[in-house]
Amino acid sequence: MTERIAAQFRRFAEKEARGHSALYEALALGVAGDGDLLALLAGLPPDKQQPNLLFAAVRLVCGTPADFPSFRASLLGRAADVVAAILAHRTQTNEPGRCAVLLPVLARLHQPLALIEVGASAGLCLIPEQYAYDYNGTRLGAATAPVFHCLANDPTPIPQALPRITWRAGLDLEPVSPRDPDQMAWLEALIWPDQPERLARFRAAADLVRRTSVRVRRGDLTTDLGALIDEVPNGPTIVVFHSATLAYVPDPAARAAFATLLWERSAVWISNEAPFVFPDIAARAPRPGPAGAFLLAVNGRPVAWTDPHGAWIDWLG
Ligand SMILES: C[S@@+](CC[C@H](N)C(=O)[O-])C[C@H]1O[C@@H](n2cnc3c(N)ncnc32)[C@H](O)[C@@H]1O
Repeated sequence: MTERIAAQFRRFAEKEARGHSALYEALALGVAGDGDLLALLAGLPPDKQQPNLLFAAVRLVCGTPADFPSFRASLLGRAADVVAAILAHRTQTNEPGRCAVLLPVLARLHQPLALIEVGASAGLCLIPEQYAYDYNGTRLGAATAPVFHCLANDPTPIPQALPRITWRAGLDLEPVSPRDPDQMAWLEALIWPDQPERLARFRAAADLVRRTSVRVRRGDLTTDLGALIDEVPNGPTIVVFHSATLAYVPDPAARAAFATLLWERSAVWISNEAPFVFPDIAARAPRPGPAGAFLLAVNGRPVAWTDPHGAWIDWLG
């Protein structure tokens, strides 16, 4: 058991943190080699043994550590509080920068759109038309809006206009209220500490979403999506999207049933996930993506490799 957890933390260090967060790489490697910490994690349910969840819980309870020794001392010093924080929360990182890789797809659909996000967290990705974007210097959106920079390869259809969204709703097992300071503190703890630009845009996006009154309903995407689609008024193109969410649905049959529902309801399905989530779709990509990349797919067809936080898009052409 502890060897499996150690491998999970090593994989996180090497594939996810390296090159993005020196601190998280060091923490994950430290945990992978520490018998006491691995034993503590082994006492938790498997879905509570994730690196992001552990690191965010320690930061919420003890503050941001400077290095692995101080992380270890803080965690062992307040183990009961950290475990309580882990058990009380989920990985709900809400990254509005992901809108920059969704936009080239959204802008090309027949407008207006009815937008449904499953796994919406606080709903920050449900207001893509309210942000500004910069694709290789081509700018789009209001001058006062938070700007998401995205490096796009040549074939990427750079959007000429923002999408027109006339109806929107989110679905989440645990909706996060952008008006609740404790819930927002948890989402901030999930943002990696050496990425201050992500924290700044998260706060700017949260301000916007508070003014838009985005509705995120409590529910499970594997059972409650059909009822939400039923509420969409006639007229707009129905779009169901998800980003960094289907990985949390462990049963491949449940993921397949979700995809079938979207096909039956004639909704446009936009998936932005790690390639292992829908291996059949990933197998159809004409070339492999870089380590750690997400695969963007529309109605089951791969269209681009993307940075998990929206910093670049590599359109498949
Ligand atoms: C990592 S967050 C991603 C949030 C958002 N999609 C984004 O890209 O910023 C994953 C979200 O999916 C939600 N989630 C996980 N499993 C779910 C399910 N079966 N049904 C609905 N939501 C789910 C979690 O509660 C969490 O808020």
